Amino acid sequence: MLGFNSARNKAGVQSEDTINVCGQEYTKDEWTNVTPNILSKTSRKLHLHQSHPISIIRQRIENHFATFKALNRFEPTVTTKMNFDDLCIPADHPTRVKSDNYYINATNMLRAHTSAHQLQGLESGATKFLISGDVYRRDEIDSSHYPVFHQMEGLQYFDMDPEITAKQVQDDIASQAELAANTVQLVDDTLVKPENPIQDRHAPEAAQAVVAHLKHSLNSMVRALFKDEPNLQVRWIDAYFPFTSPSWEMEIFYQGEWLEICGCGIVRQDLMDAAGLQNKIGWAFGCGLERLSMVLFDIPDIRLFWSEDERFLSQFAAGEIVKFKPFSKFPPCLKDISFWLPEKDWNENNFCEIVRGVAGDIVENVTKIDDFTHPKTQKRSVCYRITYRSMDRNVTNEEINAIQEKVRSTVEEDLSVQLR
Ligand code: DAH
Repeated sequence: MLGFNSARNKAGVQSEDTINVCGQEYTKDEWTNVTPNILSKTSRKLHLHQSHPISIIRQRIENHFATFKALNRFEPTVTTKMNFDDLCIPADHPTRVKSDNYYINATNMLRAHTSAHQLQGLESGATKFLISGDVYRRDEIDSSHYPVFHQMEGLQYFDMDPEITAKQVQDDIASQAELAANTVQLVDDTLVKPENPIQDRHAPEAAQAVVAHLKHSLNSMVRALFKDEPNLQVRWIDAYFPFTSPSWEMEIFYQGEWLEICGCGIVRQDLMDAAGLQNKIGWAFGCGLERLSMVLFDIPDIRLFWSEDERFLSQFAAGEIVKFKPFSKFPPCLKDISFWLPEKDWNENNFCEIVRGVAGDIVENVTKIDDFTHPKTQKRSVCYRITYRSMDRNVTNEEINAIQEKVRSTVEEDLSVQLR
C-alpha cells in the first residue's frame, strides 16, 4: 500500500503526526483514515469544469433555479459538527462510523454530503440557495460506486405564518414560467402521515404549503432535466432523514430498476433556529449529480467521470447534453484473493479501501464470490474476485500481478487476515 506516513500527493505532503489536506495542516489521531489516493481527488473539482458532464448538470440545475444563489466553492474539508451535529444527526448514529467515512481526525473529515454546508448557506443571508460540491464516502467497488461523487443541495425558505406562508408559496409558483409539455411520467402517492410527520413547531397549513412548493420545485426540475428522455418514469417515496420532517426521496426507473436521485423534506426547525431564523420555514433537497449524468449522458461506468482521456473529455461541450459514445474498452484482468477472516473487526469497506489504495482507478469491480464457515473450527473464509481494467490504456499482466501481490501483502498486514 502507498505508505501512508510518508506519501506525497497533489494535495500535500504528509509527515508522521500531521496531514495536509487542501492546504491545511491537521494533527492525525486514531480516527484518521483518509488515503493519498482519496486526497488526490480533492483538487480535481469536476463540478467546476465548464464542459465536464458533472458541471453541465450542475449548470442545468442552476439555470432551472435561476433566482437561487449558487454556492460552489466550499472546500470539501468540514468539521464533524458541520457534517453531523448541525444536521441533528445523533452522536451514536450509524452514518458516523469510521468504515463509511473519510476522517481527517476525530473532529475533521471530508464531507459526506453537501448538506454539511446548509447552515453556512442559511447564514449567507440568501432565502434560496444551491450548493454543489464533491462528497466522499467509503463504499463498495462497482460501476456505480466510487468513493468520491458530487451532490447538489438546494434550500428555500418562507415566512412562517399560517396566513402568509401559503400566499408567499402561491405567488412564487405563479411567478414561474410554464414548462413546455413533455413525456416525463410523475407518480406521487405520498401523503403527510404520522410516520412521516409535520414537525410540532409547524402550523399544518404553513407546512403543507411548503411541502406543495417543494414538490412543485423538484417535479419541475426533473421535468426540465429529462425533457428529452422519452417516457421517463419518476416516483416519490417516503423517506427518513434526521434533518428533515416530513422527508421523501425521488426515484427514476432506469435500466430495469428504481434509482434514487434525490432526498428532500421540510428542514428541521432546530437548524433554522441555529441560523437565527426561528420564524422561517423551509424545504431542502440533495441530489446526486453522477446518477443524473449517467442517465442523461448514457455514461456506463462512474470511473469515466474521472478520466483525463481526450476520447472521453472531447465528447462534451458546455451547456450540451449528448449521448456518450463508448470507445473501445481495454481487456479486463481478473484476480481472486481468498483469506480467513480475523475473529473480530472485519469490515468489507476496509478491504475495498486497500484495493483502491493500491490499484487506484484500475480497479473496476470487487465482488465476493465465496463465503464459507469451516464446520469444525468455525473459522470463516471469503474469496473476492477483483476486476482490473484501465479506462485509457492496456495494462500488462506483470503490472497487475505486482498490484495483486501488493494487495495481498497489505491486506494480510493491515486487516490481520490469513491468506489462503
Ligand atoms: N444529504 C442527504 C444524503 O446525502 C440528501 C438530502 C436529503 C439532502 C434531504 C437534503 C435533504 O437537503 O433535505 O443522502
